[in-house]
Amino acid sequence: MNVRIRLLGDFRVVVDGRPLPGDAWTSRRSAELVKLLALAPGRRLRREQVMEALWPELAPDAMAANLHKAAHLARRSLGADESVVLASGSAALWPAATVATDVDRFESATDHALASGDPSACREAASLYGGELLPDDPYAEWALRRRDELHLRHLEVLRRGELWEELVRADPADEEAHRALIAAHAAAGNGHAAIRQFRRLQDALSRELGVRPGPASMALYRQVVTGLAVPGHAPRRALVGREMELARARVALGLAAEGAGSVLLVSGEPGIGKTRLCEALLSEADEAGWATMHGAAREAEGAVPYAPVVGAIDRLLLDRPELAGAITEGARAALASLATAIPGSAPASPAALPRQQVLSAVTQLLTVASGDRGLLLFVDDVHAADDATIGLVHYVARASRPSRLLAVLAFRPAEMSPALEQVCTSLRGQRLACELELMPLARAESQAMIQQVMGHAPSSATLDAIWELAGGNPFFTLELASTVGPDGLVAVPAGLYQAVDARLASLGRPLLGVLERAAIAGGELDADEFTVLSGLDEANAFAVLDDALAAGLLEVSGTAYRFRHRLVRDALVRKLAPHQRAAAHREAAERLGEAGAAPARVAYHFLAGGRGGHA
Ligand SMILES: Nc1ncnc2c1ncn2[C@@H]1O[C@H](COP(=O)(O)OP(=O)(O)OP(=O)(O)O)[C@@H](O)[C@H]1O
Ligand SMILES: [Mg+2]
Repeated sequence: MNVRIRLLGDFRVVVDGRPLPGDAWTSRRSAELVKLLALAPGRRLRREQVMEALWPELAPDAMAANLHKAAHLARRSLGADESVVLASGSAALWPAATVATDVDRFESATDHALASGDPSACREAASLYGGELLPDDPYAEWALRRRDELHLRHLEVLRRGELWEELVRADPADEEAHRALIAAHAAAGNGHAAIRQFRRLQDALSRELGVRPGPASMALYRQVVTGLAVPGHAPRRALVGREMELARARVALGLAAEGAGSVLLVSGEPGIGKTRLCEALLSEADEAGWATMHGAAREAEGAVPYAPVVGAIDRLLLDRPELAGAITEGARAALASLATAIPGSAPASPAALPRQQVLSAVTQLLTVASGDRGLLLFVDDVHAADDATIGLVHYVARASRPSRLLAVLAFRPAEMSPALEQVCTSLRGQRLACELELMPLARAESQAMIQQVMGHAPSSATLDAIWELAGGNPFFTLELASTVGPDGLVAVPAGLYQAVDARLASLGRPLLGVLERAAIAGGELDADEFTVLSGLDEANAFAVLDDALAAGLLEVSGTAYRFRHRLVRDALVRKLAPHQRAAAHREAAERLGEAGAAPARVAYHFLAGGRGGHA
């Protein structure tokens, strides 16, 4: 008689080639007895061992009665009297037959493979693991240790066999496996897949262990992002003009260094150069040894509370993971529920956190981060920020006086929310605000910008044409300058936005179509979300990503992608008719939902798509 028993991933008994039907097991106890014996060495255990394992809570008489009954029922299920034998103080499973189990086979193959260290033997052994031990008995005490041992063995042969994909599936928090995959993607020239893998590592570690990726993973990640610095993409051009504004900002910075922090309010129309100026200030501060942080509000994030600050904290901790260790446990827990990059359990909804807890946790982190020199916190586009963020910024600003903190807020005055107006009024009243209202560039400065784009001085006719339209607005000056043909003529003189539209139109499909969807989705997109939104397969979606990065339309931000400029995104959205826009929002809601995006984002798109009910 030949008996085969499967215990990994399932329980099944095959006698002389005939599988026992699933309904053969009329009693759970009898099945447990067979499983227990099947796992025992030589498939034999002392009766006390069996009884202790299966019915530890019963009195001796009851145990013995149970054993007899279970053995009887097991014989009936297995269809053979000689299958379970109780004799001379022991219980045995089919002592007179040849019995083979998948566990034995897996164990001897792994012993052999691990001893030899041969990767292909390890892969072979790994393939014999059919799943976790007895998955239908998750709480059976007697199976727990063995299940863990087998699982660990499986992980070990996967590792030695360099089966990284499988290893990550079996143990999502295995850093070495993730690193191997990141490196493999990068080596294959697939930077996007590498970044996505890093993001998965980050999520898994934070979810399963409450920790952040270690130094080796961080170093690898930085290498990948640097490698993604897109070939052919023009280096950032020099800042033109703005000497006065920078000088005033430097004064505010100097005062903050002496402990008199304040808030720099940088305002001006779209495209006037708020972000560019603040970035210049940020890099000056950085070079002078200041700690710097930056985040940006994006209205398409809907009402996700604290989103810009969460972004800023994420990036800060990506660069300086040691800071998380320097704040109190309570603060860490509060921040953990805000930011994905902080060790902690699954993120709660930030709205559910007591406000005071968030405020004091963030203040604590900022204080620690500011260190010896001071901290510059730049929040861009605060006109689009949620009220929670604005309240937080206000709180931090008022705490800035005694600490060395300079908060820099950039916004479009025409789009200010009432909450932001109130905060600005309050800051002015407390003499905490320093205002920088950006005006258009002078004609000579415009000329310098155009020259940067064209590589030589524009003719006066070209300069006149651009000056006429853009009026010293840097964004439109640049867009128009890039449409100048070899004849020196500005190609699209019909209007400002048409200049942007014309550049976009020259991109062609599918890039344009994918960018439209990304623009509707707004905010930041990770590689998975981008792929799902694009409707393309992964390879094509990543190729489109490459093109968009190369065209300077998108940029990498942490482990995600975003539009390099809001106005480009606006232009893409504006081109859609209202009904197309609503449909695109609904599609974004569905696809982002599939990709596992935050519920608030999905809800935002359902609302924007006119489907309040789904939100
Ligand atoms: N002084 C400057 N020198 C060189 N380039 C500039 C300058 N100011 C702005 N730019 C460029 O002009 C474009 C628009 O500037 P920026 O993005 O800073 O505008 P913004 O005021 O932040 O607009 P928005 O309100 O849309 O955010 C960018 O490409 C930026 O690099
Ligand atoms: Mg800006």
